Amino acid sequence: MAFILSLLVSFSALFSLVHGISITGTSYTNISNDPEGSVHLNALSFQQSPLTTFGDYQYVAYYATAPAGYGHHYVNLGRRRVTPSVSAWETFAFTDYEQKTLDEHNTISMGISGDGKIHLSFDHHDVPLNYRVSSTGVAKTLPSAWTQASFGGAVQHSLPGSTGPWTPLTYPRFERLAGGDLLMEFRIGQSGAGDSYIHRYSASSGSWTAVGKYLQGQDNNAYINGFTSEAGKLYVSWTVRETPDAATNHDFYFAVSEDDGKTWKNSGGAAVAKPITPSTSGIKVFTIPQNSEIMNQEAQCADAKGRFHALMRDKSSGTAKWYHYLRTSDGKFTKTAINVAVSTPPYLQYRGKLAAVGDTLVAIIPDAPKNVVTIWGATASGNYSDWKSLATIANMAGEPLVDEERLKDSGVLSVFVRQGGAYGERKVQVWDYMLAV
Ligand SMILES: *[C@@H]1O[C@H](CO)[C@@H](O)[C@H](O)[C@H]1NC(C)=O
Ligand SMILES: *[C@@H]1O[C@H](CO)[C@@H](O)[C@H](O)[C@H]1NC(C)=O
Repeated sequence: MAFILSLLVSFSALFSLVHGISITGTSYTNISNDPEGSVHLNALSFQQSPLTTFGDYQYVAYYATAPAGYGHHYVNLGRRRVTPSVSAWETFAFTDYEQKTLDEHNTISMGISGDGKIHLSFDHHDVPLNYRVSSTGVAKTLPSAWTQASFGGAVQHSLPGSTGPWTPLTYPRFERLAGGDLLMEFRIGQSGAGDSYIHRYSASSGSWTAVGKYLQGQDNNAYINGFTSEAGKLYVSWTVRETPDAATNHDFYFAVSEDDGKTWKNSGGAAVAKPITPSTSGIKVFTIPQNSEIMNQEAQCADAKGRFHALMRDKSSGTAKWYHYLRTSDGKFTKTAINVAVSTPPYLQYRGKLAAVGDTLVAIIPDAPKNVVTIWGATASGNYSDWKSLATIANMAGEPLVDEERLKDSGVLSVFVRQGGAYGERKVQVWDYMLAV
């Protein structure tokens, strides 16, 4: 018995060593009721990001129903202290701008620059830019009153200091650079015919400049998995769509920049001309034909050791599967099916997310047929094949989003989600998982 017990103990010690990841605490908060209607305006995978941490505070941006009722929404912004301990959310609504377009593209993205200014962009589907920014560095000065008064100006339709085009714009994304400057990325054009642009906000001068067009369609458009700055490199991966029909998504593309988007290289390390097109040499990494049920804008992340990870699903094997695309720091790419116990993803169903912490990779995968979001961990030492179930969130109907900064700062996996259920009961929530890795 003692022998068996000691075997069990050493087996479980080995098990936790191999897996190297576990959850030591879980909590969640309800942020708000989700708006009325069948259209999702909160928790879409291309929001970058509705949930982010700066210093000791976490911020959340979401739509909630405005007093005028159905089809009228305000952008809301919440903050709470998360370090050294977690306090209650304080929230306010921007009451000078009513969002009225019931369209799942018209989400909110948020970025915080190193000077503490909070930047928001929202309500786009092939329309002029909508942008607003706090008048001072509120994420640094932490004014005691949390109100719209800190965001003096009205919604703007250009980035002050920079040059357009500013329309027809969709999918705004913000990414903070290590030095505190902020990049903004978006598509100009339409589904099936669009280009992608980058602008840079200087945290020292407080103004924007154009970095330029970096992706260009050839009567098609790139749908990026994310826009990720990590350890001095800016990574982007994408699929290309030929027409507004998602069935025309094809192939997996990758590029990396070592100067924050000014110049780009292909995965093999060769410099490529800007703007990058689908036929740029060496830019396509994996061939996946049209009609393979590729879901665009799924997920990507990078880790401090120069590894790049992407999540995309396709049906090229005959069955729809989620794939982990891994690029090691020496530029070698692999594509491996993520072998986890979830339902076969139905075509066009909810998209997942990836997050890296040290040598651990976390995959947050919606299991749409079961109305849950599942969370899994895998490790570099297990070749990212040792997927272990970490958590399941019940009653989910939406696409989870991760607070990458909080994960990096404090090892807490904070996830923004939308519940299923009827209007009035259905909430937007933030779930917190204390990770031991
Ligand atoms: C979240 O909202 C639901 C529904 O109103 C309620 O039952 C639950 O207690 C709330 N949870 C928290 C942590 O406030
Ligand atoms: C990881 O991959 C390497 C190279 O293919 C192999 O030698 C090693 O055994 C694998 N390790 C695990 C834990 O699968």
